[in-house]
Amino acid sequence: MVPLTIPILRLLSDGEFHSGETLARNLKVSRSSIWNALQAANAFGVLIYKVRGRGYQMPTPLEWYEDQKIVAHLGSQAEKISLHIQDVVDSTNSQQLKLVALPNVHGRCLIAEIQTNGRGRRGRPWQGVLGGSLSFSIIWQFNMGVAQLSGLSLAVGVALARALRELGLLGIQLKWPNDLLHNFHKLGGVLIELQGEALGPSSTVVGIGLNYRLNALVKNKIDQAVSDLASVKPDIAPRNQVIGVVLRHLTSVLAEFEQKGFGAFRQEWQELHAYQDKPVGLRMPDGSEIFGIVRNVSEEGALILETVSGERRFGSGEISLRSNFNTTATMRA
Ligand code: BTN
Repeated sequence: MVPLTIPILRLLSDGEFHSGETLARNLKVSRSSIWNALQAANAFGVLIYKVRGRGYQMPTPLEWYEDQKIVAHLGSQAEKISLHIQDVVDSTNSQQLKLVALPNVHGRCLIAEIQTNGRGRRGRPWQGVLGGSLSFSIIWQFNMGVAQLSGLSLAVGVALARALRELGLLGIQLKWPNDLLHNFHKLGGVLIELQGEALGPSSTVVGIGLNYRLNALVKNKIDQAVSDLASVKPDIAPRNQVIGVVLRHLTSVLAEFEQKGFGAFRQEWQELHAYQDKPVGLRMPDGSEIFGIVRNVSEEGALILETVSGERRFGSGEISLRSNFNTTATMRA
């Protein structure tokens, strides 16, 4: 990453044309440094036009994070959160994991304008775009042991769905364990990493990635059906508002989870589940696939499938829709 890239993008983010000469003068560097730094901007997924005689332009103006604008939407939850905004980090989860065992980090939220090595579940990369994604991680400490946190990621999905409903997005659903969907297209995901003892306390890093407005370049890099908030609601609220509303719901759900566990969210989660009563294949970590009909989730957040061998519970795996199959036949891939 070239250190000049972000300062140039900040100057360009008004959507106006800026000549290479003016940018170079403002930043006290050469024109070729400006050009080099903008080449590096490709890696952030931002589109920049260069027009002979007029200069550079960012066709879609970019809204940067501002903590006062975020705090304005936190309401009474503001006192539970300390906001830290950074332009470029490898992964907000990785950074927060370095701090998770320190005292006084409960509620520390790290928001990145762009991640260079965003991580998804199961070791997958997580793609984002500068100004078009929400990427943040919050540290939350629980008095309970790690075993009691098994439903936490599902509860976080409920918080996301509540926030998006408040922001006027219709038709938001969840996919077990914690993907956020619209019409079976992925809008966001949750990566929870934890440290703790069996009996507690436990420290968690709750990482959330939401697609706000992805361009075709980034969409093409993602190997699954993907959507973004701006496609679901073209007049989507500004990013600072979206992240503020999400954080308000998230912290209130985390606090309730500490008191009541996943049971308090189970019914609501099930109503949001896009796969409820649907025939699915569940791809297990060892590569095998189990077929069944989704019936429920347990008090611990396990997926309950009706299979040929009766009702079975699963704590991990990846589900996908299957055309209706005969549950009297066992199929293992
Ligand atoms: C998934 O669905 O696979 C989970 C995606 C989680 C991505 C977020 S973005 C913020 C935080 N930092 C990371 O590196 N990952 C999570």
